Amino acid sequence: MSKFGEEWTRGYRDMLIEAGGRALADCNLHGEEIDALYVGTMAPGSLVGQEHIGALVADFMGLNPIPATRVEAACASGGVALRTGYLAVASGAHDCVVVGGVEKMTDTPGNEVASALGGAGDQEWELFMGATFPGIYALMARRHMLEYGTTREQMAAVAVKNHANAAKNKYAHFQNEITLDTVLKSKMVASPLTLFDCSPITDGAAAVVLMPLDKAKKYSEMPIEILASTQASDALALHSRHCMSELHATKVAVKKAFETTKLSPKDIDVVEVHDCFTIAEIMAIEDLGFCPKGQGGKFTEEGKTALNSEISVNTSGGLKGCGHPVGATGVKQAVEIAWQLRGQAEGRQVKDCEIGMTHNVGGSGATAVVHIMKRA
Ligand code: COA
Repeated sequence: MSKFGEEWTRGYRDMLIEAGGRALADCNLHGEEIDALYVGTMAPGSLVGQEHIGALVADFMGLNPIPATRVEAACASGGVALRTGYLAVASGAHDCVVVGGVEKMTDTPGNEVASALGGAGDQEWELFMGATFPGIYALMARRHMLEYGTTREQMAAVAVKNHANAAKNKYAHFQNEITLDTVLKSKMVASPLTLFDCSPITDGAAAVVLMPLDKAKKYSEMPIEILASTQASDALALHSRHCMSELHATKVAVKKAFETTKLSPKDIDVVEVHDCFTIAEIMAIEDLGFCPKGQGGKFTEEGKTALNSEISVNTSGGLKGCGHPVGATGVKQAVEIAWQLRGQAEGRQVKDCEIGMTHNVGGSGATAVVHIMKRA
């Protein structure tokens, strides 16, 4: 991956090509051996005025004439690109695929970024009426507080933990620890969510190489096996859902993933979840089955999601601490899990780490993608 953050000196394509180059170098792969490219990216047209991303990347990686395809699923673009690449290899259509994710967000004024991101919800019924993503997640937070007694302090504990992990990750956007007070006293964005309850606007890219396992073993001493790749959908607009305090698509996707692998939450050693807002991590750990519904706040406050505790959640720093260049996030989650499974997560290594999971969400929950991986 590229270093996430505010990138002033390099553009959209440079970051992706840097991440792609690192992925190729990691397994000593040469360009002519690649059969296809998939790139997850959410809104490059609105954010940097560039469309036709597949062709752009193939051209600048010197990979013409292989097929190169853009994948878009809002903030889950990276996760869905990974799944698309996985299906291409699993089906036998391609033997060697590179999956990238990228977004360049900080060159664009904040109100325009909010508008571009808001398009991932229901434009007519939400964004047009003024509901931005912090506003929509604030509604979910209020509902969760009402139904389960979740507190502001419990949400703030998510941000404190994720900044602590990010401080150990040299690729993270933020590398500073914070306290509960930092979160609680920071400026209000959409009540009850303050600045430090929100993931930031970030630039960055990530990439992975996918191959059938027997082939991967020839290229890498430490290949990672994808055991399950599942995806589910839900209503685009929050008001059309049967429940505002859970993400149903997450529950469906993870159920399929556990059925496929015959694993359960207890088998997972490390998980990267989609914490675009602190309440999102609380709902994610509940919906993925790491704690009972309604207990996510308490579970976090008790330190059970910290590094090397009951379940290590968001060791990269998550979207909150590592940053959220939307199209890159789902692929970055896979990179972090691969580093953890290989014992290469310097400074933040989960002990005896054998099975990991990624959970990437699009919009306010209309798309959810789950991957389960293990050391091959
Ligand atoms: N967490 C911590 N610090 C943050 C931050 C965040 N999420 N966002 C910005 N900052 C810091 C900046 O680094 C800057 O610090 P500095 O003054 O020391 O340089 C300061 O706060 C002001 O930054 P600015 O860019 O002016 O903030 P903003 O008010 O324009 O934007 C948010 C803040 C929360 C509105 C913006 O980050 C946001 O919209 N986040 C949500 C993104 C989103 O919806 N993603 C999709 C999820 S589904």
